[in-house]
Amino acid sequence: MCMLEDPRDASTLPETLSFAEVLDAPFALEEPEGPALAGTPYAVVRRVGQGGMGEVYEAEHRALGRRAAVKVLHQRHVDRPDLAARLRGEARLLGRLRHPNLVDVFDLGVTADGRPWFAMPLLFGRDLREELARSGCLTPERAASLVGQALAGLGAAHAAGLVHRDIKLENLFLEHDGTVKVLDFGIAKATSGGGAFRTDPATSPGTPRTMAPEQCAREPVDSRTDLYAVGLCLYELLAGRGPFDDARGSADALRFAHARREPAPPSAFARRPIPAALDRVVLTALAKSPADRFQSAAEMAGALAASVAPLPAVPLAPSRRSPAASFVALSAAALALVALVLTLVTSLAAR
Ligand SMILES: Nc1ncnc2c1ncn2[C@@H]1O[C@H](COP(=O)(O)OP(=O)(O)O)[C@@H](O)[C@H]1O
Ligand SMILES: [Mg+2]
Repeated sequence: MCMLEDPRDASTLPETLSFAEVLDAPFALEEPEGPALAGTPYAVVRRVGQGGMGEVYEAEHRALGRRAAVKVLHQRHVDRPDLAARLRGEARLLGRLRHPNLVDVFDLGVTADGRPWFAMPLLFGRDLREELARSGCLTPERAASLVGQALAGLGAAHAAGLVHRDIKLENLFLEHDGTVKVLDFGIAKATSGGGAFRTDPATSPGTPRTMAPEQCAREPVDSRTDLYAVGLCLYELLAGRGPFDDARGSADALRFAHARREPAPPSAFARRPIPAALDRVVLTALAKSPADRFQSAAEMAGALAASVAPLPAVPLAPSRRSPAASFVALSAAALALVALVLTLVTSLAAR
């Protein structure tokens, strides 16, 4: 998890150097955490995150002084060519995609000890797991807005023929300006040709807690597999827990739950009211059969936005009365008012 301070915080910005100083001082930064990026053009400033495969550093380009985030294969995986290939694959996939809800990758290389790394813009904010821990359950509107952005990024990846396969709150990053970025395409796969592919049992990618029924059963996965995982993220943001958290102690029980158990709607656990339409969106995303889910990220995003939209104001029907009819109605109302006043006055006088 990562929490970065305000990007304008002076302590995180490089000092302004003259052109001559820039040329003379290309190795200005220390590497406080060892030679994690040795052999790259970057010097470590600090570590800002890590996951199963890599570490992510805030780093400074030694010659340009430009700050970036550098993701590098973890040192413990130095002898894992399969993971090295995944990290390189992630960089190449992202390098080809351009979308406001995805990160741009602008450099790729190998460290002195043979680990691949890539550079991307440094994001300021925190992942949605951390956001949930800090704010507690989100309002339906906020959850829908953040997840809607994730769906936009995911839709772009799907359109390029990719399935992410590891959508979870830790891989959705909320920037200080409110933008959500979908991170970590480390186990993404191209759905070349047929649009679906079979998960390789040997590598068993994904996280049991967020695996769709077809992933658990090692059946072909496609973009609708990601939509199941998005449904789980939305569930957690609304309810503060997943639908099958009672089975979290055992990977087998979790797999069984995803494959067979019907989830209760998020409103069963949420502390604030959830619109019925939003419950339906979540349950549709979590349908066991991909055919019963939303068929695209755009379709899900549309249903999600509509489920929290305020009801449209009902326009008043235009009056069809003729001016003469209106005059008669008005006169009758005035006469009724006069009669009421007279009755009141007479009853008062009688006392
Ligand atoms: N561009 C970035 N800027 C800032 N932090 C980042 C950036 N990319 C990733 N991180 C942080 O690093 C963590 C690990 O990155 P991720 O790509 O998920 O690695 P892994 O493949 O090892 O799971 C993320 O959860 C996030 O907190
Ligand atoms: Mg990750």
